[in-house]
Amino acid sequence: MENFFVGRSLCVIDDFNINERAFLFEKVKTLKKAMGENDKKVLDEFRINDPDFGIYEVFLEDSTRTKESFRNAAKFHLTKVSELVASNSSFNKGESYSDTFNTLAGYSNSIFIIRSKVEGVCAHLENQCAQFAKRNELARKPSFINAGDGKHEHPTQELLDEYTFLEDNNFNYDEIHLALVGDLFHGRTVHSKANGLKLFKKVKIDLVAPVELAMPETYLNTMKENGFDVTIYSSIEEYLESGKVANKWYFTRPQLERMGEQILKRQAQLRASITFRKEFLTKLPENTKFYHPLPRHKLTPTIPTFLDKTSLNGWEKQSINGMYVRIVLLGMLGGALGKDFDETLAKKESYIDEEYIFKIDAKNKTKKKKDYSEGVNPIDNGIVIDHICKGDSPKEIREHMALISKIIELDDERGGEWVSCGSDNKYKGILFRPGTKTFTRKELKRLAAIAPGCTLNIIKDHIVVEKYRTTMPPRIYNFENLCCKNEACISNPSQGEGVEAMFYRTKDHKFICSYCGKAHSFKEIFKTNN
Ligand code: CP
Repeated sequence: MENFFVGRSLCVIDDFNINERAFLFEKVKTLKKAMGENDKKVLDEFRINDPDFGIYEVFLEDSTRTKESFRNAAKFHLTKVSELVASNSSFNKGESYSDTFNTLAGYSNSIFIIRSKVEGVCAHLENQCAQFAKRNELARKPSFINAGDGKHEHPTQELLDEYTFLEDNNFNYDEIHLALVGDLFHGRTVHSKANGLKLFKKVKIDLVAPVELAMPETYLNTMKENGFDVTIYSSIEEYLESGKVANKWYFTRPQLERMGEQILKRQAQLRASITFRKEFLTKLPENTKFYHPLPRHKLTPTIPTFLDKTSLNGWEKQSINGMYVRIVLLGMLGGALGKDFDETLAKKESYIDEEYIFKIDAKNKTKKKKDYSEGVNPIDNGIVIDHICKGDSPKEIREHMALISKIIELDDERGGEWVSCGSDNKYKGILFRPGTKTFTRKELKRLAAIAPGCTLNIIKDHIVVEKYRTTMPPRIYNFENLCCKNEACISNPSQGEGVEAMFYRTKDHKFICSYCGKAHSFKEIFKTNN
């Protein structure tokens, strides 16, 4: 039987559920012990041990720890290890990500480790290369490991962070109280914590950052939705004054390379608020540990080097754990590990799946004039889309009706749009087109996506022959006119990768980009021009 983890990807931390991560951590524990004891028999059980198995590193942003720990991990497995040198690759000739990685997948490579400033690139490539593998009858579908994508996520860092927290806590999953200190806005390692820390049953998080470097709302909301108890502080000083200080602190460096000019001008002041100082030592709780994904700046480290020799130092062991965690991850995706995993504990798709187009019995219903009383005469044959954007302002409703007309391709037809006000004093839009238009299932899905809550009436000879009501779909994808508003996202048109945007709905009616995780309101997901 093929190993359960083969062909899986790790694009975001949530791609491995809590059980799968706990399984990985148990393997790391065993591996570390075997390494310490040089137990060759056990170590061999961890190896892929296949010189034809290809692991490819593609680092389009700088790295020491992630790149080198993965390279060392891959060498442990006795596999073929390759690296694409991006600076003299055909990326420079304008080649797309999918053409580049399809090419490399065709050379018998099965695991790709990618660091890029483009967010969501692994999720896109996982899909593209799976299709390529099928078209070309490759032996297996490649796996993708996100080694850090812009300011989105860094899931393997999250794995090694979680492992280190557990190791320092006798592998107790019951609770964690953690301070996240530093550049929470740009730091992808702390963004992975929004879902990563679900590993613990009870989570208390203290966010310590000046407002310019504060945790983005998307991740803050995710933390709250996940039931974390979150408190916000603007500096270490303010945090220590609170008297409710965690005994685990996770620092992130100010990410100068991602900051705009305005923030860079104030970097010294911002850094001061997130840099630990000697006089703070007496205010820390007993047994405090500091962690840091590293690197730290040699001139302006937020964890000063005089702390290296103190018991606060948790970051060195954390960095060392990186290689062990990555050996196990590669072993799982490469098929060496995982046969003893109980598949009933595996990740299941978690998106909401529900019907959102409802056919209503329209038998023998004659159009009534009063339905469209404010100047619109009922039509004999054609369509009427009613209840559009109920509750919005007339301007917003008109703008949205223009978008509906464009997306449903009604612009070339006769007819018009109307804004009416009901007895409840709420405005709504009505769009009508005389003619003989009918709707396919695909068009109905598109209508639900652009006009949730509307009613579609199809009229023949004064009679409503078909009537549908729509609700907000759980996923919106597969048509033009959608656009993730994050310019760093692989699906943003400015990236030129030709990736169609894809969104899924949250319980509180936000639409999350399936690639970069950015939360949008319903109206934000549509292109505003063209
Ligand atoms: N923690 C981390 O990602 O370090 P590198 O940038 O050196 O890989």
